[in-house]
Amino acid sequence: MTLICNGRVIDPASGLDQVTDVLLREGRIAKLGENLERDGCDRVIDAAGWVVAPGLVDGHVHFRDPGFPCKEDITTGAASAAAGGFTTVVCMANTKPPVDRAEVLTELRQRAETLPIHVLNTSTLTLGMEGKELADLEGLKAAGAVAFTDDGRAVQDAALLKRAMERSRELGVPIALHEEDPALLESSGVHQGRISEKLGVAGASALAEEVLVARDCLLALRTGAAIVIQHVSSAVSVELLRTMKALGAKVYGEVTPHHFSLNEEILLEKGTLAKVNPPIRTEEDRLALIRGLQDGAIDGIVTDHAPHTREEKARGWAEAPSGMIGLETALALGITNLVRPGYLSLSQLVEKMTVAPARFYGLEAGRLLAGAPADLVLFDPEERWRVGDTFWSRSSNSPFIGMELFGRVKGTICGGKAVYTDGKGRA
Ligand code: DOR
Ligand code: ZN
Repeated sequence: MTLICNGRVIDPASGLDQVTDVLLREGRIAKLGENLERDGCDRVIDAAGWVVAPGLVDGHVHFRDPGFPCKEDITTGAASAAAGGFTTVVCMANTKPPVDRAEVLTELRQRAETLPIHVLNTSTLTLGMEGKELADLEGLKAAGAVAFTDDGRAVQDAALLKRAMERSRELGVPIALHEEDPALLESSGVHQGRISEKLGVAGASALAEEVLVARDCLLALRTGAAIVIQHVSSAVSVELLRTMKALGAKVYGEVTPHHFSLNEEILLEKGTLAKVNPPIRTEEDRLALIRGLQDGAIDGIVTDHAPHTREEKARGWAEAPSGMIGLETALALGITNLVRPGYLSLSQLVEKMTVAPARFYGLEAGRLLAGAPADLVLFDPEERWRVGDTFWSRSSNSPFIGMELFGRVKGTICGGKAVYTDGKGRA
């Protein structure tokens, strides 16, 4: 048994936010309450001054496994997640080969069993992510896919997507969508506007995103399917989500820490490290994303953790791949850029990073109450630290290196076991 005492315990779903003790037994949360008995505990963690919250849930990571273990594999990805306070992550399917067949998925599911945290999988929506033929969605659900997605690529054929939504509604599995229409995308990873002009690249317009957000929310509305609009980046997309939700569409909007923390100016400073799809846009877009988080137009925060090698990122604007790692900085970026400026309360931030995605994907995660799995994060919301250039991830492509942030993960517990401690801490 483990006793965590004197921490500020936050469980957004029940509104709990108070200093109390938490007792863990046999992989579950046994009890919450003040001055719990220490007798029989093999471990007592003094969490005074720290927040004790449900383990974070990331609905969108890329672990490059199978295919590119030099960037990340499921073991290093899980270690990076644990260091960031995550106890559940959902892997995208754009691996090599892609997760478009039950055999690929089954092998990943088996390997995931040995990992210290819950590493879940999506499968592709279409065979080879080619957008031409639907994958065997039923078989992939049976093999353990928690969602279907061609993330990294948009689904261009509206009729195919409509059929996919009808199937996914029957199966009760959501479809997650990367919204950038290649027909309107002149070049990827850099917002089309003032900065793309300065850099001499064609750029990715907000319109390329918005036309697909509008189309796919309408398809969801008309089919009754549940969909995720992945990494929303433009102000108009936020407004579309707001409208479509009001009309009754089952649409879940996600935003990344890089999109709510940065604006396009970062490209001048950090170069291709800030190249990401969809791109980081204007300050106005950034503030609209935050307003979306505040009023519920945006439901959750995901990292889109996308490891790439140093060599690849050094290839220049046209050739460098898009994406950045994010698991080890996500919580601190939320605290620094959402909570400290007063946009969200700590409990609201925790909600967006735990119970909101868990509910949408139907996961038993994101709660801190008696009977729930003993998956927790302990963090110091005040600790100031500078992002270094070494990570638990196998890659280090982060534009946040060198920045000073608030909020430090002190310990991560999954299934009652410590899966990360920050070394200096009490956890
Ligand atoms: O920037 C991105 N990189 N966006 C995506 O959607 C895919 C990801 C990747 O796989 O590298
Ligand atoms: Zn992604």
